[in-house]
Amino acid sequence: PLAGTGTIVTPAADAARGVGAFNVIQLEHAQAIVAGAEAVGAPVVLQLSENAVRYHGALTPIASAVLATARTASVPVAVHLDHATSADLVTEAVELGFSSVMFDASVLPCEENVRATAEVVARCHAAGVWVEAELGEVGGKDGVHAPGARTDPAEAAAFVAATGVDALAVAVGTSHAMLTRDAVLDFDLIAGLRAAVPVPLVLHGSSGVADEHLTRAVEHGMTKVNIATHLNQVFTGAVRRTLDDDPSLVDTRRYLGSGRTAMAAEVTRLLRVLKAPTA
Ligand code: G3H
Ligand code: ZN
Repeated sequence: PLAGTGTIVTPAADAARGVGAFNVIQLEHAQAIVAGAEAVGAPVVLQLSENAVRYHGALTPIASAVLATARTASVPVAVHLDHATSADLVTEAVELGFSSVMFDASVLPCEENVRATAEVVARCHAAGVWVEAELGEVGGKDGVHAPGARTDPAEAAAFVAATGVDALAVAVGTSHAMLTRDAVLDFDLIAGLRAAVPVPLVLHGSSGVADEHLTRAVEHGMTKVNIATHLNQVFTGAVRRTLDDDPSLVDTRRYLGSGRTAMAAEVTRLLRVLKAPTA
């Protein structure tokens, strides 16, 4: 069923377990993620980024499919709007019944980030929607590899108090859209943030993190773990092999289906790496 993001993430944070938050672009991604989560009996977060919405040209068609996929799942599935910079898009997501949103004002100067985020929090909480924000920009969204950013624990605690956000994305060594899994995480900083910040922590750019470091990050206090690029690599690799194997293939179900099957297996594997809670 469709679940509240807080009902998945809060108990996981208390139990030092990870929640997989995987990005959806096509319907096949949503199906793969849900199948992968059902195979291990774990709750999961399906997330649509503002960039993915831009690709589709509108939120409603893809969001309707994702929400329907969540509702029919046998495990709790939250539907989350990822990296929203548009307050109007947040409103649309709330109206469609999303479980949560990430409002990303991290490019703004700190005071403006606080003001804009607090406004979004007030509107979302009135509708029962959970809000994630980011402090200390995790680079790479524009193709720039910027692993140097770090979130200060005291600033993070103050930001959470000032905005009322339900979860905080922090910069601890990752960068978005990495194709190799060799990011160097600052585990001491993760522990320091966990001790200082009263809400669950979110790791972005987790495609660049090796399995053992994902597990350690969860053990040190990261809870929601966002993975997009790595699953696209798995999906696209399978599609490419299927097409290479049969140059006469034209039925889109054949190659998209192979991508979906490969992605589902990787989701199952990653949920175990993250020590996801199971029913
Ligand atoms: O918000 C989405 C994630 O941070 C995904 O980043 O593509 O580097 O895994 P990634
Ligand atoms: Zn991200």
